[in-house]
Amino acid sequence: MASHQRQQALPVINIALLGDKDPAARALVVQDIARACLDHGCFQVINHGVSKIVMDGALEAASEFFDMSTGYKEVHASDDIRSPVRYDTTSRDGISKSRSFLKHYANPLDDWINLWPMQPATYREKMGTYSVEIQSLSVQLMGAIVQGLGLGSMYLHDKLGEGLQFVALNNYPQGSSLAGDTVGLAPHSDYGFITILLQSSPGLEVMHHDDHAWTPVPAIPGALHVHLGDHLEVLSNGRLRSLMHRAILNTDEARISIASIHGVAMDENVECAEELVDEGHPKMYRESSFRDFLDFLPTNVKTYRRFVQTLKIDTAAYKDEERIGSATLRHS
Ligand code: OGA
Ligand code: NI
Repeated sequence: MASHQRQQALPVINIALLGDKDPAARALVVQDIARACLDHGCFQVINHGVSKIVMDGALEAASEFFDMSTGYKEVHASDDIRSPVRYDTTSRDGISKSRSFLKHYANPLDDWINLWPMQPATYREKMGTYSVEIQSLSVQLMGAIVQGLGLGSMYLHDKLGEGLQFVALNNYPQGSSLAGDTVGLAPHSDYGFITILLQSSPGLEVMHHDDHAWTPVPAIPGALHVHLGDHLEVLSNGRLRSLMHRAILNTDEARISIASIHGVAMDENVECAEELVDEGHPKMYRESSFRDFLDFLPTNVKTYRRFVQTLKIDTAAYKDEERIGSATLRHS
């Protein structure tokens, strides 16, 4: 419904000057990114340094993989959500409605690439090149985001460089124009700090905070979409919120998207940055790792809950405890 769908322009940010030696030039880009994170929870980037050839190559490799025989693709299927490479067509995660996907780890590339599909023949090369460039872009973007939070641009820098990169290739069938909006991937927020997404055609929709309206994300040629994940909400102690999003089926064509999720290493805990915790802003989330997220996933199939919701410290109870604690002290 038109009344329900707010066609709000989402920010498109030119990040060419993010790497500039002049701190003032960089600061302007950091400011744009900080604003977009607060106001929208997402933004698209242009002049990001990942070439069209590399982006097209990744989409081709994904498309050629999905065109392989079911038998071949199922070689990569696994019931185990911990498997580093996983092809699936079912809704083990509770949110897949109409998609098949291939998910695999990608950073550091040498640890994982030998587990990736060998067919199509150019898969490893094309997806590998794309993954490495996106990983490096993610570190750059995180540098800007943490700087925007007042944590300094090098905050977590090394841990992000060595961190987790989880690449999900999504394959959606063409939707029927008679059926109305058909959901391919149900509403959810992503694990990790940020997701960088490339889509072959429109279908991604975002819902900011408690907005109750879906905004379509346009597929701008050459641009990459970036949105905030659960662990950024934790790190920022709730100053930034992870973004709810979904994918609807494109009625013009089958659609492919490549989502790259970025975080710190598998067993590394993420907690609220100390600098963002004070009397006025008590710690709102408990710490957790990617492994905790994987443990949580199988419990989340029937009714979907955002992972970050399960991490929330009940601050009212927390304050009560403090009050009781200090009262006890006074009376003893
Ligand atoms: C995802 C995701 C959206 C899309 O893979 O987590 O949200 O457009 N994908 O496919
Ligand atoms: Ni997602």
